[in-house]
Amino acid sequence: MPKYTIAWMPGDGVGKDVMQATRIVLDRLGLDAEYVPADIGWEFWVNEGNPLPDRTIETLKRTDCALFGAITSKPREEAAAELRPELRGRGLSYFSPIVRLRQLFNLHTNLRPCRAFRGNPLNRLGDDIDLVVFRENTEGMYGGIEWFPLPERVAAAMADAEVGHPERMKQWFDKGLENVALSTRVMSRQGCESICRRSFEYAQRFGRRSVTLVEKPNVLRETGGLMTRVFREIASEYPGVEAWEANVDAICMWMLKSPQDYDVLVAENMFGDIVSDLCAGLVGGLGFAPAANIGDDYAVFEPTHGSAPKYDGMDVVNPIAMLLTAKMMLDWLGESEMAGRLESAVAAVIEAGEVRTYDMAQVRAGSAGTASTTAMAEAVAALL
Ligand code: IPM
Ligand code: MG
Repeated sequence: MPKYTIAWMPGDGVGKDVMQATRIVLDRLGLDAEYVPADIGWEFWVNEGNPLPDRTIETLKRTDCALFGAITSKPREEAAAELRPELRGRGLSYFSPIVRLRQLFNLHTNLRPCRAFRGNPLNRLGDDIDLVVFRENTEGMYGGIEWFPLPERVAAAMADAEVGHPERMKQWFDKGLENVALSTRVMSRQGCESICRRSFEYAQRFGRRSVTLVEKPNVLRETGGLMTRVFREIASEYPGVEAWEANVDAICMWMLKSPQDYDVLVAENMFGDIVSDLCAGLVGGLGFAPAANIGDDYAVFEPTHGSAPKYDGMDVVNPIAMLLTAKMMLDWLGESEMAGRLESAVAAVIEAGEVRTYDMAQVRAGSAGTASTTAMAEAVAALL
């Protein structure tokens, strides 16, 4: 029996390319694992009307963790139009399978490290950026409680004289509820506590200087206010770690000016989504941004990037984000020696600068940036 059973989910688009590349590296490392393929993504939406088939959920339940490439998400109408003709008109509604997986398996923490590797030609803001985003992964703006049009009963509750906002609701009734869409931001004390505590625990454990809360409590008074209060409470338990607070808009500007000032960041789901792409941009782009969706006893490892349909099957995208994602999986499994070797090999390949994928060519065009996805993985594997 292999030591680990890992669900293998390439998903859509370039997810397949980067997963294949990752396999080269995992095999070279000699990870003692069985990889169980699991269906997820657009193909299963189109052909079965479900991008996350039940059999996949069952597979995940009997594995130790999952490795996931990327997913294509489209707005509702576009998704419905691509369904197989027999499945149309049955009221099937597309949902993002990764967002669903995070909720279904209570993968409450989305951990997204963004480290600048020395020698990366895309490091325009310095080689010394080392950020870690803790994104709350199951609540907030992406919690999935939404309506269009706004149902009369929901609007009535919101306008209720005792618990609602009759004055503020007036404008929506005037505009006609059939013209109004509503997406909610629902957050719990438990959700805020959990993500804040994990960010401080991490900072303490790895000797990080500060944790910065990314919020907007001056406008989002209730949800942002709850998160801010909880953040301060938790911060007081970690006197060795500085606790900073920033509004989400302001930090986007500050981080571009001096990313070196920041260390660990913690945020609600949507703000975490936004700020993690920003952090990726500071260290060379999505090709360098790994991620892990972590729950109490299960985890899905998935890079921050999407499925990049225009590069689908071309073997050109940068697999480094996915390789570093596999590194996070190795850490989570307790294989820290392998994890360390993998990260060092990635760092060495970047520093040597001999093998570069197209995204790394922007600075030294012509001299580099022609390596394929596979070639990059092979270069990393060669150092293992
Ligand atoms: C991410 C992605 C996803 C998200 C999308 C594809 C649903 O942007 O993992 O950051 O918003 O969580
Ligand atoms: Mg995102």
